[in-house]
Amino acid sequence: MNIMNNGRLGFDELDELVRPAPEVVEFEEVANKMVSRRGFLGGGAAVGAGAFVMGSTTLAAGKALAAGATESRLAFSMVKANSLDTVTVPEGYKWEVVASWGDPLFSNAPAFDATTGGTGASQELAFGDHNDGMAFFSKDGKQIMAINNEYTNEKTLHANRGDGMPATADDVRKNKAAHGVSIIEVAQRGGKWGIVLDSPYNRRITADTAMDITGPARGHKWMQTSEDPKGLVAKGTWNNCGNGQTPWGTYLTCEENFNGYFTANDKDYKMPEAFKRYGMSTEGRYNWAMADDRFNLVKEPNEPNRFGYIVEIDPLDPTSRPKKRTALGRFKHENAELTIAANGHVVVYLGDDERGEFLYRFISKHKYLAGGNNRDLLEEGTLYVAKFHDNNRGEWLALTPKTTGMTDAEISIHTRMAASKVGATTMDRPEWVAAHPHKAEVYCSLTNNKNRGVKPNAGGDATPAGGPNPRVKNNFGQIVRWMPMDSDHTHNEFKWDLFVLAGNPAVYDDANAGSKNVNQDNMFNSPDGLKFDSKGLLWIQTDGNYSNEKGFQGQGNNQMLVADPETGEIRRFLVGPKESEITGSAWNAERTTMFIGVQHPGEEGHSHWPDGGQSVPRSSVIAISREDGAVIG
Ligand code: FEO
Ligand code: CA
Ligand code: CA
Repeated sequence: MNIMNNGRLGFDELDELVRPAPEVVEFEEVANKMVSRRGFLGGGAAVGAGAFVMGSTTLAAGKALAAGATESRLAFSMVKANSLDTVTVPEGYKWEVVASWGDPLFSNAPAFDATTGGTGASQELAFGDHNDGMAFFSKDGKQIMAINNEYTNEKTLHANRGDGMPATADDVRKNKAAHGVSIIEVAQRGGKWGIVLDSPYNRRITADTAMDITGPARGHKWMQTSEDPKGLVAKGTWNNCGNGQTPWGTYLTCEENFNGYFTANDKDYKMPEAFKRYGMSTEGRYNWAMADDRFNLVKEPNEPNRFGYIVEIDPLDPTSRPKKRTALGRFKHENAELTIAANGHVVVYLGDDERGEFLYRFISKHKYLAGGNNRDLLEEGTLYVAKFHDNNRGEWLALTPKTTGMTDAEISIHTRMAASKVGATTMDRPEWVAAHPHKAEVYCSLTNNKNRGVKPNAGGDATPAGGPNPRVKNNFGQIVRWMPMDSDHTHNEFKWDLFVLAGNPAVYDDANAGSKNVNQDNMFNSPDGLKFDSKGLLWIQTDGNYSNEKGFQGQGNNQMLVADPETGEIRRFLVGPKESEITGSAWNAERTTMFIGVQHPGEEGHSHWPDGGQSVPRSSVIAISREDGAVIG
């Protein structure tokens, strides 16, 4: 959920830049023509011009669907949309809760207390709130998970405070400790997954954990604060959204809406332009400045520059210090999809989840060497930003001192401004990126963008409808995919198409109906989490409108679907509880269990999931398995 993003829309300078209506109408017509269901299939301008693109894919999907389930690689019967306050999985599958907000990781921690939401001390020993991205690790027969805790439900975390806001220094300590990353050992006991209490791997990383600043921004004057005058060690990580995982055994956690935690209590405070680009406001959401001057912009004007990065953590060494990888840029990171290119360089694809921001690629300077020392490959490399052309071609534009007129340190701290300078394509909120495990093909969720064709981004870059963002006022979202030329992830050119345009064919007969692989049975909105399984099937998780009304009628709660990239077929696999989003996924080593995250059930106060009765809702990780114990995904 992107509450900060919503809050940012009130910015006056954005309102002043609203595009006049006639241009919008024109965009709308063009977009409708390009993606009307008939045009889309028949090879319309946006998605069908190239021979390899969507037209053939969706036609194939139509054939597969018509031929019946026997030919499908999706071997389960589709779950129907619903608005129930529970998790629904296909027949033959079951689910159970593995870990919920407030579950103790150590036996010396008090039990979860729903009345108060616990204390600072108890939260530091317990599973954090609003779990998001996750990864699974094995070592010496132990099973370890690293799981992001993106942000908090203040109404339940501070259930003892009338307005749900932190009111004391201990409330701030608790709130900071509910953020970050939870590392837990998990095991199946009596057939049920759960946290292994007191495991030496159990660890909480919070908004106060020391981490080394590495890469171009290390030591730069913009990184220096009174607590850290040399700009070398940042304190903490928060708003950790999606994730990544490296072949050398580390976890990547991605700082997204880092901006919403800072405040300025001086009416004469003047917000720097660079902060405006990142959506900073003088009124943060969490009151952290009440107990920690780092969050007071008047006192610590450089502190925000130390957040908005990818952080690398070794979950198998509980004493290790996390590393902020500034070479991968500073923006509202969604996830970090890492792949090793055929030539050995590490390639990381990165989305910046804000309306009209960009899609990035990082290429390491040094090469990956199986069995070698790869620990610092993310310290040095080049960042690129995507430019999509309307002819289903695209290119990666390097962000270097030569192309941007900025130093390497400036590029890594003011990455959005660097990308604007080279003329990157403004996107419909890039969320998760997923790279196909068996071929050079990459997918990215563009979750939605109500400002497409209406407003520029915060840097003033226009957002015309077209290319991979074909619809004005895009409420449903789409998934774009690209194929690097020569199947080389380090190649600077690629071909692209749209894998799916989400929509509602029951309500609309224009572009809002979606692409042909969307129908009244599998429809959804706002694709977000993406991950490939070992078979090359794409798991799609949603974080969107769950009202089940108007344009979203018939779509029910947020959900998880599975797609076959070869045929375009999409089936709904799971529906989440009320007012939740589904986000984050991982498999155990045997692939008999799939772990996923259920975040913010009852964010509007209408859920008692997972404990039922009149209990407070709790974000949780659940385990999904087949009743026959066979491999899943
Ligand atoms: Fe935390 Fe873009 O979702
Ligand atoms: Ca989202
Ligand atoms: Ca997300």
